[in-house]
Amino acid sequence: MTEPTKFWAVVPAAGVGKRMNADRPKQYLQLNGKTVLEQTLLRLLQAEVFSAVSVAISVEDPYWPELPLASHAKVVTAAGGKERADSVLSALKAIRDVAADSDWVLVHDAARPCLTTDDIHLLINSLVDDEVGGILALASHDTLKNVQGRSILGTLDRSHIWRALTPQMFRYGRLKSALEAAEGNLAVTDEASAVEMQGGQPKIVEGRPDNIKITRPEDLALAQFYLEQQ
Ligand code: CTP
Ligand code: MG
Repeated sequence: MTEPTKFWAVVPAAGVGKRMNADRPKQYLQLNGKTVLEQTLLRLLQAEVFSAVSVAISVEDPYWPELPLASHAKVVTAAGGKERADSVLSALKAIRDVAADSDWVLVHDAARPCLTTDDIHLLINSLVDDEVGGILALASHDTLKNVQGRSILGTLDRSHIWRALTPQMFRYGRLKSALEAAEGNLAVTDEASAVEMQGGQPKIVEGRPDNIKITRPEDLALAQFYLEQQ
């Protein structure tokens, strides 16, 4: 008898948050009474679809062991890596004994605490029968310019341009081998780009614009506003 397909969440949380310019990595800044990382993990756990959430944490991180969620029954801790893709691969390896190659994995940035349960379910329901998988994405509303120096060389056809968000959903086996094949390649800034390099064509699913990535100081107040609105 074959096991039913499971869903796993992978959360890269081993960055230093350089652009945030704070006294600690941005995933440990306070947001509505909890750290950003706790808000993000709670969103995933509350979706009630994941067998476990594998979180990549820097080996020098003193904050993680202090969080109650670090010892949650469904939370697995993995060692973070040099680049985001290394952290994701490490978190995938941490569940290798329990995940099947055909299981689905949703990779979600620790720095995106405003993800809704609705968007998680929308992504899963849209792609669960897909061959490859895909990502939440947003259409680009601004007119986009191709610039060299300070000179505009042309205007891009916006109808073909989408902004990649997370979660990004792929089969465990395919994602792991795509990331292994792309190891050390700095052009791989998300999971989809690793799968694309293997010839795959991930799908996009239109997500909510409030699923922002906290990157710069002003984003924290925006995230707080969105959480209060939701
Ligand atoms: N990340 C990670 N391992 C790394 C680098 C990044 O797990 N070696 C994670 C971050 O913790 C974050 C997500 O990947 O949740 C998205 O990366 P980004 O927004 O760039 O976060 P940082 O790298 O921490 O920020 P910065 O680039 O400003 O230093
Ligand atoms: Mg970074």
